[in-house]
Order: sequence, then C-alpha cells, then structure tokens
Amino acid sequence: MIDPKIRDRFPMLTSNQMMQGHPLIYLDNASTTFKPDCVIEAENFYNSLQTSNSHRGDYDLSYLVDQHVAESRALVASFINADTREVIFTSGATAALNTVAFGYGLSTLKPGDEILLTLAEHASNLLPWFKVAKMTGAVIRYIPLTKEGRVTVEAAKQAIGPKTKIVSIAQVTNVLGYEAPVKEIAALVHAQGGVICVDGAQSVPHIKVDVKDLDCDFLAFSGHKLCAPTGTGILYGKYHILEKMEPFALGGGMNVKFYPSGEMELLPPPTRFEAGTINVGGIYGLAKAIEFIQGVGMDNIAEHDRMLKARAVEGLKNCDKITMYNATSEAGIVDFNVNGVFAQDAGTWLNSKGIACRSGSHCAKILHEHIHTIATVRASFYFYNTVEEIDTFVDTLVKGGDFLDAYF
Ligand SMILES: Cc1ncc(COP(=O)(O)O)c(C=O)c1O
Repeated sequence: MIDPKIRDRFPMLTSNQMMQGHPLIYLDNASTTFKPDCVIEAENFYNSLQTSNSHRGDYDLSYLVDQHVAESRALVASFINADTREVIFTSGATAALNTVAFGYGLSTLKPGDEILLTLAEHASNLLPWFKVAKMTGAVIRYIPLTKEGRVTVEAAKQAIGPKTKIVSIAQVTNVLGYEAPVKEIAALVHAQGGVICVDGAQSVPHIKVDVKDLDCDFLAFSGHKLCAPTGTGILYGKYHILEKMEPFALGGGMNVKFYPSGEMELLPPPTRFEAGTINVGGIYGLAKAIEFIQGVGMDNIAEHDRMLKARAVEGLKNCDKITMYNATSEAGIVDFNVNGVFAQDAGTWLNSKGIACRSGSHCAKILHEHIHTIATVRASFYFYNTVEEIDTFVDTLVKGGDFLDAYF
C-alpha cells in the first residue's frame, strides 16, 4: 500500500498546478518522474554548500564530495545487489548503453558475429548497436516478438546460437511494458559464450532488480525515471568484463598517466569509465532518490503500478472508441489509440483537460509496424498517481466530449 501522504513530498504535486484550467494529472512517468523534496534539497545542498569537483582537490571540501560520491556509489550498488566497483555513474541510460556498445561491442565483435535485439527496443538500445555493427561487420538480428509484442524464452532459444555474442534487450519495454524473461535469456546466451546487456530504464524504477539473480553482464538505467535529477544514470557491469573493457569516452579523471607518444595508462573501473567532471549534484540527488523509493518499498511500487494499470484497463477495455495495445503487459503503462484520431491529436486533447500523456512513437520507431500503427498515446503511472487520477483519465476518454464525439 502506498501512503497517499507521499504526494506531499513532491513540489510538482503540492503546488496544485493548473493546466488549461484543469488540475494537472501527470501520466508520463515512463518519460521522466517528479522529484521529491529530499532529492531537490540534496542537489541544492551540493550547489549551495558543497560545490567542488570530485577526484580533483587536495582540500577538505573536495574530500567531502569524494566521500559523498563514494557513499552514493555504494548505495546504488546495494540497490541492485552489485559490488561498488561495478557501478559507473553516467548521464543516463543512453550514455550507459553507448558505453557498452562502443566500449565492449566495438572491441570484441568480429565480422559475422551476431548482436541480438528486439523490435520493441528504445532508440538508445538500437542505434548504438546499428553503428557498432556497421563498424565491426557484426550482424543485427531480432528475437521475434509474439503478436502482442512479448519476448518469450522459446523465441530467445530459437534465436540464440553460437554466433550470438551480445543480446541487448529491455527488461521492461517502454511502449507496451512487457517484462522479458531476462534471467532465462541470460542463461541461454551464456551457454553460447555470449553476454547480455539489460536496458533497465523502465524496470529499475518499478520492480526490484538484482543483477546477481539475473546474472546479467551489463545493466543500464536512468536516474530521472526513479525520482532523481535529469543527467544521472548508471551502468552496471560485471567487474571481470569491465576490467578488460575499453572506455568509450576519454579525458580527465580516468587515466593514471599519458605520454607524448600517445600511450596511456588507465585507472581501474569504475573510474576508467567516468571521463570528465561527473554530475556531482545529480549524484547527491540520485542517492536520495534511491533511499526515497526504497523507503516507499519496491514491492509497494510494483503493486501500486499493477493496481492502477488494472483499473485503467478495466475502464477502457469495453470502450469501442479505444484500441488498447498492451492490456496484458506487466508495467503500469497503457498504450492506446482513440480510433480514427491521430495519436498527437488525442494527446493534445487530453492536454486540454490537464492530462499529460505522451503521444507518438516513444523512441521505439521500429515497433509500431509490429502492432500495426504509426503512433500511439501512452499513459504511464508511478507510485504517486492516484486511483482518482486514473478514473478521471478513463472518464475523459470514455465520455469523450465534443472533440472525440466528432469522430463517431
Ligand atoms: C527503455 C528505455 N531505454 C532507454 C531510455 C533512454 O533513457 P535516457 O533518455 O534517460 O538516457 C529510455 C527513455 O525513455 C527508455 O524508456
């Protein structure tokens, strides 16, 4: 159970903002989430009272910052059951996935090797691989999805073979919200000597993720989808892989020494993968966000997502104006179209009622052919959304009103 008072912790909610004359109902949490007071305060604390660079200064202030960053890293590690030196701070899931593709993929893939993806992936888990495939001569293949858009163990078993060097898939997809059997797929790819990279952008904020239990080789996720500041994210990698992996970005803070000849000695992981000044204030906020959602409870969050999803599906399933694409998926995401109405128009109309949903292709531009549409509207929930908000969203769609009625 989520305590309804949790909403009091979010200035975006307590400010009672009106949008188009209606109270704001924010249902775009798969895109980014609101920040609680403690996250805002932590980032402000760094900016107001502890500003200095990390890993740079031989003075007390810089030491305090280094300590805080180290503690934050340890907290992230315990959150996903990793070791501290396996946690790399990045600017988001996109940067984390690019680090895997250009760090691990570029140096290990040979012509004819296979990179296995799915049609349901976000651009950030496709485009880096497309480019690395071109650069190495590796081949992109897809684990076939079921008609509804789900990845099954059976399909993965058929697709994974001796040429499969990397499987890179979302644990929970960002449009339809299906949860992939990542643990089983990890076992299949390991049996063939390959690795698995898990895009956790939509899973880590919503369900308990344990990298040791999944036995994944990499896990990428963003901070801003779990109540942390934008510009924060994590790449987890098994240490024995990171140790041999090339950094994608080079610069200050990640090397021991370099020479006029161009030779360089690199620091060990994770610092090797954190070139340049890291987002220190964001990391202060990220640590607070993780503490905060752990306080709410990952099981409570998952249960609340399920409850809101079930309510929305129940409310919309018999409405002949609506086509829903993912009624049976696990995540708190409802992906739909208003029949005969272009998705962006439906999104704009919901906005006119104060309801913020996302419409379009949601950065998953090769999925839509599979579900026979060019764009959809996506409502995505988090633990601070209420039953009343879902009911208003459903009523707004079901009862239609002048705009939607014009089409029937
Ligand atoms: C499944 C998935 N992967 C990757 C990303 C990229 O995340 P970011 O923009 O925070 O880097 C997103 C963002 O929506 C996502 O949903």
